[in-house]
Amino acid sequence: MSYLEQMFGLQNRRIVITGAGGLLGTVFSQALGKAGAELVLIDRDKRSLELCGAKLKGIGVSPELIVCDLTNYESVYTIINEISQRGLIDGLVNSAAIDPKAESKVLDAGNSGWFTDYPLKSWCSSLDTNLTGVFNISQAVCGVMERQESGRGVIVNLCSTYGLVGPDQSIYKDEEGVQLFYKPVDYSVTKAGLLGFTRALAAMYKGTEIRVNALTPGGAFNDHTPAFVEKYADRTILGRMADPAEYGGAIVFLCSSASSYMTGSNLIIDGGWTAI
Ligand SMILES: NC(=O)c1ccc[n+]([C@@H]2O[C@H](COP(=O)([O-])OP(=O)(O)OC[C@H]3O[C@@H](n4cnc5c(N)ncnc54)[C@H](O)[C@@H]3O)[C@@H](O)[C@H]2O)c1
Repeated sequence: MSYLEQMFGLQNRRIVITGAGGLLGTVFSQALGKAGAELVLIDRDKRSLELCGAKLKGIGVSPELIVCDLTNYESVYTIINEISQRGLIDGLVNSAAIDPKAESKVLDAGNSGWFTDYPLKSWCSSLDTNLTGVFNISQAVCGVMERQESGRGVIVNLCSTYGLVGPDQSIYKDEEGVQLFYKPVDYSVTKAGLLGFTRALAAMYKGTEIRVNALTPGGAFNDHTPAFVEKYADRTILGRMADPAEYGGAIVFLCSSASSYMTGSNLIIDGGWTAI
């Protein structure tokens, strides 16, 4: 086995990825699959999950696909129990989230994201998925990892630069200066909360080989308007948005032996947005 395979190879590792149908969720699945991991992909959206599965088949990876809403505690426990009966669980990537984006119209009509008009329902649904959903599946998976003979496991929580610094709302203005959207507060709150969850859970597993880390990406290009890309790029040191594929190496690093001395930590990959 080559040095690179020893460090970064994921042969014989079975990894569960939530939100696998998402933009980055699909990239994480592709990268981990290419590194040799056996994959179990979860999403509440069947169509996006199947699209991700089809992309993986195209590169010779055959994942198990499971439709599940992570906010449903009983469903999560049932599927994790079933998954664990078919083999070990070596890793969990918590990528599923409600991430309102200006271009994807996740917010209901009439909800601009502005704080004083922001519906309690939207706040609650974000906390429910981004925090409670992560709690549900992490608790179920940790229970399995604790019982496994290997005593080993990795958990990666997807955070965001907006969990480290407040959103720059000016990048959501159009060319005429009209504000199109506001990144809602719950996104920052839940992503900051996940960093606390990462540290607390890592500390809870002191003296074991169960490691818990966070990955903090900056904005990935997804057919944004040239005006948006220009404003976004101007906030970074590298002067551009990320290509989604640029996060593949980081997830392989965090799930593999290459990060074996890392826990309770946060890997920031944001083109320098939070450094200036
Ligand atoms: N895309 C970016 O530029 C970016 C930047 C910083 C951080 N992030 C974070 O990285 C992660 C992945 O981002 P992405 O671009 O793939 O997001 P995305 O919005 O494209 O995908 C999120 C996926 O999660 C699924 N999901 C939502 N709620 C769910 C639930 N209750 N149960 C099961 N599945 C559920 C959705 O169906 C969707 O497929 C997210 O946590 C996001 O907040 C993304």
